[in-house]
Amino acid sequence: ALIPVAVLGAATLPGCSSLSTTAVTDVPVRTPLPIPPLAPSTTERGVRRIALTAQEGSIQLPGMPGPTRTWGFSGPFLGPTLRLRRGEDVEIAVTNRLPEPTSVHWHGMHLPAAMDGGPHQSIAPGATWTPRWQVDQEAATLWYHPHPHGGTERHVHRGLAGLVLLEDDRSEEAVLPREYGADDVPLIIQDRSLDADGQLVLRDDGAEPGMLGDTIMVNGMIGAYLEVRSALLRLRILNGATARTLTLGLADGRALTMIASDGGLLDEPIELTSLRLAPGERAEVLLALDPGETVRLRGLRTDLGAVAVPATTGAHDECDILELRAAPRLEPAPEPVWQARQRRLPDPAEAVRSRGFVLEGRTINGRRMDMSRIDEVVHLGTTEIWEVTNGEAVPHSFHVHDVQMRLLDIDGAAPPPELAGPKDTFYLEPRRRYRLVLRFERYADPHMPYMHHCHMLLHEDGGMMGQFVVIEPGQEHLVAAPGPGAH
Ligand code: C2O
Ligand code: CU
Repeated sequence: ALIPVAVLGAATLPGCSSLSTTAVTDVPVRTPLPIPPLAPSTTERGVRRIALTAQEGSIQLPGMPGPTRTWGFSGPFLGPTLRLRRGEDVEIAVTNRLPEPTSVHWHGMHLPAAMDGGPHQSIAPGATWTPRWQVDQEAATLWYHPHPHGGTERHVHRGLAGLVLLEDDRSEEAVLPREYGADDVPLIIQDRSLDADGQLVLRDDGAEPGMLGDTIMVNGMIGAYLEVRSALLRLRILNGATARTLTLGLADGRALTMIASDGGLLDEPIELTSLRLAPGERAEVLLALDPGETVRLRGLRTDLGAVAVPATTGAHDECDILELRAAPRLEPAPEPVWQARQRRLPDPAEAVRSRGFVLEGRTINGRRMDMSRIDEVVHLGTTEIWEVTNGEAVPHSFHVHDVQMRLLDIDGAAPPPELAGPKDTFYLEPRRRYRLVLRFERYADPHMPYMHHCHMLLHEDGGMMGQFVVIEPGQEHLVAAPGPGAH
């Protein structure tokens, strides 16, 4: 149901769905983009301490008859942005005030498996979980979200997600926009459906790859615009959707300059007129605006790959995401400059073995996730090649915990530069094979696995997930998973 433009007196952001079934699709553009607050922290004896509370709440969305019931971290919806620096010791106290168990996973973070926040680190209602680790990876835009066994889609859909911005010497010395919320702007993009009462709708009607929403939310707001005061804007984009793959572009067809992928800054900027991000993927882009202009960030029709995909994938949807309004006078911005990476990406010449993974029918290699089964045993300090095949006509998105990977090839062909890494999540086109190089540098207790899984959350919850441990050679006999619910 379209909201008539004349009645509301504002231009609208057209909603997404060609198969729309809910009350709200097109939304008038009339709300400034909210910026998630930076999480407050204290530093005691060299340890940075942050508190997060998963809680119930509600938000009032524009045009809705009443409040929308939501979940959030330390607020009603989404969560504060954590800003951490390489080398820091960090301790985060996560308290669960929800009526059911949850967990918090630091997506993209290189950290011990016991701190990873996967299904084995379940937090009971009323309990606090306090992981601690040293930040030991390059500057990057990461994120955090719940990972409870079988319930990730529901928890993320209710609103539990936030960003983590990692900084290091290279990112701090770079000449790049860096004023959080001003010229360095986080965009958590998610699709949602709202009913006539303004409640979030999550249905499982068997559609693949999961429920697609009709309306785009950015940082938890519908119909948002961003007032831009600087000639150069840096957008840190997260596809935080549960199922929808987005192909981002500007409505006028001009290029975006991609500068970073999941795991950090690229060596060279890449000019792109469209950028595909599957659920879980991030990218940082630069965009130069002219004084006084208005341009829209748009979700374009998505080329999901050569294979015909089900109509429910949303591949044909087009939706507007955010209106960017440049001020009549813009602060000039210096030419962006940053150093090339000091650290090599994983080298296939060092690979000691390869493994195959076929994603199909909500399984990996024909098996559904079992918390008491370790699927892969990897040796610490080694490099491996993982051949990951999407075996069906449904899109998938492959995420591996703890590592930043390099994509070698897709069906034998060199990857496009925007996928060349470092990355922790890859969109898998239907019926294609991706060869990834991974280097395992964090010891995982033989009893405490990391996860690898599809990041389309209905698939993940349905069992398209496996567990791996990273051990010293000779410890094979110790490998056993903790039972479900163990801490
Ligand atoms: Cu973002 Cu295992 O997840
Ligand atoms: Cu999937």
